[in-house]
Amino acid sequence: MRIGLLTSGGDCPGLNAVIRSAVLHGIKSYGDEFVGFKDGWRGLIEADYLELSRHDVRGLSRVGGTILGTSRTHPYNHPGGGPENMIRQLERHGVDAVIALGGEGTLAGAKRLADEGLPVVGVPKTIDNDLDATDYTFGFDTAISIATDAMDRLRTTGESHHRCMVAEVMGRHAGWIALHSGMAAGAHAILIPEKRVTMDRVCEWVEQVHSRGRSPLVVVAEGFIPEGAEEALAGKGTESSGRPRLGGIGEWVAARVEEHTGIETRNTTLGHIQRGGNPTGFDRVLATRFGIKALDLVHEEAWGFMASLSGTEIVKVDLTAALTGLKTVPMQRYEEAQVLFGR
Ligand code: F6P
Repeated sequence: MRIGLLTSGGDCPGLNAVIRSAVLHGIKSYGDEFVGFKDGWRGLIEADYLELSRHDVRGLSRVGGTILGTSRTHPYNHPGGGPENMIRQLERHGVDAVIALGGEGTLAGAKRLADEGLPVVGVPKTIDNDLDATDYTFGFDTAISIATDAMDRLRTTGESHHRCMVAEVMGRHAGWIALHSGMAAGAHAILIPEKRVTMDRVCEWVEQVHSRGRSPLVVVAEGFIPEGAEEALAGKGTESSGRPRLGGIGEWVAARVEEHTGIETRNTTLGHIQRGGNPTGFDRVLATRFGIKALDLVHEEAWGFMASLSGTEIVKVDLTAALTGLKTVPMQRYEEAQVLFGR
């Protein structure tokens, strides 16, 4: 078969490992040929692609980003998009099937296209780990490792200056990165979108830690909104699209903490550093296994399905399962982290 790969949405460490394993498995096990569409759906719609050989994917599992480039092009809204045009493009260029790597939006697009006749399978990705129907997504472990390392560093400078340190991490809708990195780094407060907490409470926690001679460490997910602060924050933390903006809430929380407690406070927004660089070993393995599974799904002609992690097994799930809603942090997991706080 001749198979097209594309990466769509925000990049994520592990995308290249998926590309590598799918290509190597396909060439070795099935005698497949591969092309890589550039910048997500745009490359397919505009037939902008490169041939991918064994040589092209050599050593890729350890490399961050995506060699194919990515974009947030919508397969239906882009000029020349839509299933009929896209199927015609595939036929014209002799491509038999597509493996689409992406988050919720990409997978929703892939499902709709599969329902309308495009031979496509999916691979889930997001550093936020908020996709349902897979236990973990690659990129998440890398993000936690980066955020944990950053907080370890913030702690030593914070302690030297007797300051409160705030770290803003990614997580627009779900607080998985904040929860896991906060637990790993021993943060004194973990602020996530799923748990409303007032700023008074946050300041109380900070004061308790400070009064014991410690330097308080607060991790805040970018999608956190303090209880009672909706009005004060209205418009501040959002882009024109209405989407929460990176770099808003950490600064805001730090300013309020300093104002109300008198404790000198600094914020660090980790931003895209969490998405860049090389994937961890865990993410390389998960991504590699997803690539192998996706390739097998193509040969099963399991259009509209995706690779997924269930426990330790890589399984096949219907793409609709990925679209039933975001996987947010259950309160029991949040409470588990609270148990350790001797504030
Ligand atoms: O969805 C992944 C994610 O990394 C979010 O955590 C973050 O809000 C967003 O992407 C940032 O997107 P962009 O790179 O488009 O600014």
